[in-house]
Amino acid sequence: MTPTTHAASIASAPAFPLEQWYVAGFSWELKSAPVARTLLGHPVVLFRTADGKVAALEDRCCHRELPLSCGTVEDRGLRCGYHGLLFDHGGRCLEVPGQERIPPKACVKSFVLRERDQILWIWMGATPDSVPAQEPPAYEVHGDPAYRFGGDVYHYDAPYQLIHDNLLDLSHLGYVHLKTIGGNASVHMNAELKLSQQGDSVKVVRWMPDSEPPPTYSAAWPFQGRIDRWQEVEFHPSHVRIWTGAMDRGTDRLDNPQRQGFHMRGFHGVTPETETSAHYFWTIATNPHPQMQDPTQLVIDQTAATFEEDKVVIEAQFRNQQRFGARPVVDIHVDAGPNRARRVIERLRTAGARAGEGASA
Ligand code: FES
Ligand SMILES: [Fe+2]
Repeated sequence: MTPTTHAASIASAPAFPLEQWYVAGFSWELKSAPVARTLLGHPVVLFRTADGKVAALEDRCCHRELPLSCGTVEDRGLRCGYHGLLFDHGGRCLEVPGQERIPPKACVKSFVLRERDQILWIWMGATPDSVPAQEPPAYEVHGDPAYRFGGDVYHYDAPYQLIHDNLLDLSHLGYVHLKTIGGNASVHMNAELKLSQQGDSVKVVRWMPDSEPPPTYSAAWPFQGRIDRWQEVEFHPSHVRIWTGAMDRGTDRLDNPQRQGFHMRGFHGVTPETETSAHYFWTIATNPHPQMQDPTQLVIDQTAATFEEDKVVIEAQFRNQQRFGARPVVDIHVDAGPNRARRVIERLRTAGARAGEGASA
């Protein structure tokens, strides 16, 4: 195999593709208080106004630069916590306490934020006048009555692409996640893998027919014995969808899109915070079996434990990359999916660099 290095190779390209919808948060995070979050290197404040509109503003008051996230959400917008300037969802100043005239420059930058299927999507763009050509992606699982779900937001002290690598290579389950969704390491490492690509989307499919159910599966579903197990990982530049599951051995085809059995459907929004840190927005959905106690909370708890295990590995991996500096690494068979996704990101970053040049010309 050819040695490769993961060091950035395009000096002028942005660290991440910017012409993308990225996950900024989940709907249930926006309650009465504003949420501060640095996204793609920009400090942003997220909030919801009384009429239900969601908003994303630069987290800097234009008066004396207090983070607006220190302020309070009111019916009409977000009030700064220092001298009380009030801003609407578009960043326009509506009120200066004690002064009638609103200075024309009293506004803060706003970002396009959309709420869809309980996911908040932000468009930051490569240039100031960049606008999305289409609405953010749907995620129907969150509204599908066959499924129940929960999720969380994790902060990573590691670059976002290490999370992509991890999600696109599920062979690590047999080593990292033995207590939950793991199973036999050699079954994982020898599973047949099908890799395909459509535009910017990369798909990795792995089948593990006739295998032992791992602990989470057995606890959630009344399997009779051995199982036919699948993993379908669908990478997009800003998020990954993973459909895993299993059915009793020999009961259906593993390529039947309507196949029954135990399902776990994962949504994984991977949004860079900075070049060396990331936000990981995840949900896990499952289809409770009618004769079993609802396993949703168990699946959520075990998924959380699983993702904590990933976080430990990925952050240790990044610390070591920093300790040793950019040195060649060796590829093995499990890297086909991650490497393909890295090529997509590289191409989009290069395209972003060209868009930026166009804007500054
Ligand atoms: S710093 Fe925000 S109102 Fe003064
Ligand atoms: Fe993992």
